[in-house]
Amino acid sequence: MRDSRETFVPHAFVTGYPVKHSRSPLIHSYWLETLGLEGSYTRQEVVPENFAGFIAGLKSGESGFVGGNITIPHKETAFKLADRPDALSQELGASNTLWMEDGRLHATNTDGYGFLANLDATAPGWDKTDRAVILGAGGASRAIIQAVRDRGIAEIHVVNRTAARAQELADRFGPKVHAHAMEALAEVSKGAGLFVNTTSLGMDGEAAPDFDFSPLASGALVTDIVYVPLVTPILRQAQDQGFAIADGLGMLLHQAAPGFEKWFGKRPVVDAELRRRILADM
Ligand code: ATR
Repeated sequence: MRDSRETFVPHAFVTGYPVKHSRSPLIHSYWLETLGLEGSYTRQEVVPENFAGFIAGLKSGESGFVGGNITIPHKETAFKLADRPDALSQELGASNTLWMEDGRLHATNTDGYGFLANLDATAPGWDKTDRAVILGAGGASRAIIQAVRDRGIAEIHVVNRTAARAQELADRFGPKVHAHAMEALAEVSKGAGLFVNTTSLGMDGEAAPDFDFSPLASGALVTDIVYVPLVTPILRQAQDQGFAIADGLGMLLHQAAPGFEKWFGKRPVVDAELRRRILADM
């Protein structure tokens, strides 16, 4: 006899434009499978003109989704359209994770969490420094500056090709954050325990300029948000110069966990097999 009770099966999405390169479906499908949960997580490509309509369908329940991830170029609009953006999203002005709760659309941004969780997992104790250098001043940089500041790092130096963009971030994130032009890189790196590349330098096999990491503190950690290739030219140089490195894939995997828990009800674990599967797909 069939069980007549209908079980609720949650469906979640990643939306962006384009979204076909997103690896998020692999991550969430792996967790659904290994945790033995029913549910789905699919790519939904939505052009900017249709994004408000897509969110309206989510809010009304017509779309059948419980929530999802937001990627470029919709993160700012998602934040604006949410009923309950959390404090992190409000400071960033951008959200990457949405979920319906009590009939309201909630929003957060998990990029900063993913960044911290990756470093905590791969380089415990990395946060014992009082100085960090962050290269780049785009969207990814914002979430990382916020996270590093909130972790309590005393001085955060943002270095960017366009110094005015770094200055905007320093103004936004308060007195611990300092802005510099590229020429200041060596000077502000002196004694820093953390160096983060948030630019696209070295992505997809492109060459990166030569970096001299010698001003960093001994034992400093160098990390990159680029993860194709896994060991980027910047990370390779840091390794060759004797510094510890953390690749960027872990940030992608860890930032996915809070959303999964909201939509599917269980906190997933970032394990070695998940990394292996994503790498096999690259
Ligand atoms: P994202 O949202 O992924 O961070 P973004 O907003 O386009 O992307 O920001 C890209 C960052 O990489 C910026 O800091 C950019 O510097 P500018 O603000 O001067 O544009 C930086 N970047 C990109 N290509 C670069 C290059 N060839 N040299 C130095 N910095 C570069």
